[in-house]
Amino acid sequence: MKARKIKDGIYWMGFVDWDRRLFDSLVPLPDGTSYNAYLIKGSEKTVLIDAVESPMADELLGQLKDVDKIDYLISNHAEQDHSGIIPKILEKYPDARLITTPKAKGMLMDLLQISEGVFTTVEDGETLSLGDRTLKFIYTPWVHWPETMVTYLEEEEILFSCDFFGSHIATTDLFVTDEARVHEAAKRYFAEIMMPFRKVIKKDLDKLEPLSIKMIAPGHGQIFQHPELILDAYQEWVQGSCRNTVVLPYVSMHESTKLMVNYFTAALVEKGVKVELFNLAETDIGKLAMALMDAATIVVGTPTVLAGPHPYAAYAAFLANALRPNTKFLSIIGSYGWGGKTVETLAGMIPNLKVEVLTPVLCKGKPSDDAYKALDELAASIAEKHREQGFN
Ligand code: FEO
Repeated sequence: MKARKIKDGIYWMGFVDWDRRLFDSLVPLPDGTSYNAYLIKGSEKTVLIDAVESPMADELLGQLKDVDKIDYLISNHAEQDHSGIIPKILEKYPDARLITTPKAKGMLMDLLQISEGVFTTVEDGETLSLGDRTLKFIYTPWVHWPETMVTYLEEEEILFSCDFFGSHIATTDLFVTDEARVHEAAKRYFAEIMMPFRKVIKKDLDKLEPLSIKMIAPGHGQIFQHPELILDAYQEWVQGSCRNTVVLPYVSMHESTKLMVNYFTAALVEKGVKVELFNLAETDIGKLAMALMDAATIVVGTPTVLAGPHPYAAYAAFLANALRPNTKFLSIIGSYGWGGKTVETLAGMIPNLKVEVLTPVLCKGKPSDDAYKALDELAASIAEKHREQGFN
C-alpha cells in the first residue's frame, strides 16, 4: 500500500498485515493487524515516527522512496514490530538522529545492535521543533513495556501513541469507521497486553488529561478522529471493576468434568450469575483474556491427569496469573480417576491473584449426587458473595 495522507504534510506509512494470525507466537489475531508509522514534514525538519517489523522492510522503504531526508526517527517503543527496520532506515538516512527515551535507547541497542552514537534521548515533556510544527514527548511507561512514550503534535493536536490505544485490525480504512468493531478489538488488545499494568496506565491517562487531543494515531489499527471513544474505554478498563460474572475455563477428558461444568453453569444462572464458558481444548485465549477483565470469579474445570491438573487448565491458570485480573474469588471443579494434587498444584500457580479461594469440588469418576449438591453449594456461595460485594 502507498503512503496515505492524513493532513497536509502528515502521512500514514506502514503495512497492513491481513494474513497474520498469531502475535508473539501466543496472541491470536482473528482480524490480522497493521504496523503504523507516520511521516511528518515540518517547514525545517522531517520526522518518521516508529517503523515496522523486519519482514515488512520493503514496504516501508518503498513508501519512503521519494523522501530525500529524514532528520529525526522517533521510537516510541522498542519492541521489534515498531522498531525492527530502524537499522535499515538509518542506513538510508545516515544523518538522522534516533529520538527516544533513555530506557528505550538501551533496549534498542540490545535488541537491534544499534550504535550509541545515533541516539538523542529526550526527557519527559521535552519538545522538538520541526520549524512550523512542534513535537512533545510524554513518557507513558508500561504500555506495555517500561520504556514507552507517546509523541504529541502540538499544532494539529494529534497523539502518536504506538501500542497505547492500539488494536489488531487489518483494514483499508485509515480512520475508525465501525466503532463497535474497534472497541471490541481494542478491548481484546488491552486484555492481552495492558491488563497487568492497568494501575500504571491509569497514571499515564492522567498525564494525557491536560492535552487537547483531536486525533489519536496508534501503532496498530485505525486512526481515531473521535478520540473520546478510546479514551473513555481506557478510563473504564483501567478501573478493574468486577461484574457479577464467573469465567469458567475448562477441559474434560471423559465427560465427567464436562457434566460438572454444565450442571454448575445451570446452577449459577439459576442464581442470577452470568457465566462465560471456555473449552480450553479449542478456545481463543484473547477472548478468555477479555472475559477475565471484569469477572468477579474464576472457576477452573479440570480433570486430574498424571496426578495434577490437565495441562490446558494449568495453562489457563498461568495465563490468569500473568494477566493479573482484578478477580475476587476462585475455585476449582473437576473429576479424578484415582487421586492426585490438582487443587494444590493449581492454587500454587496463581500467586499474583489476590483471591479468596472457595471450597473446590472434586469428585471421583462420574459425578454423584453428593458432587452435584456440592456444586449447588458452591454456586450459592458465589452468588451470595457477588451480592455482598454489590457486583451486578
Ligand atoms: Fe506493538 Fe509492544 O509492540
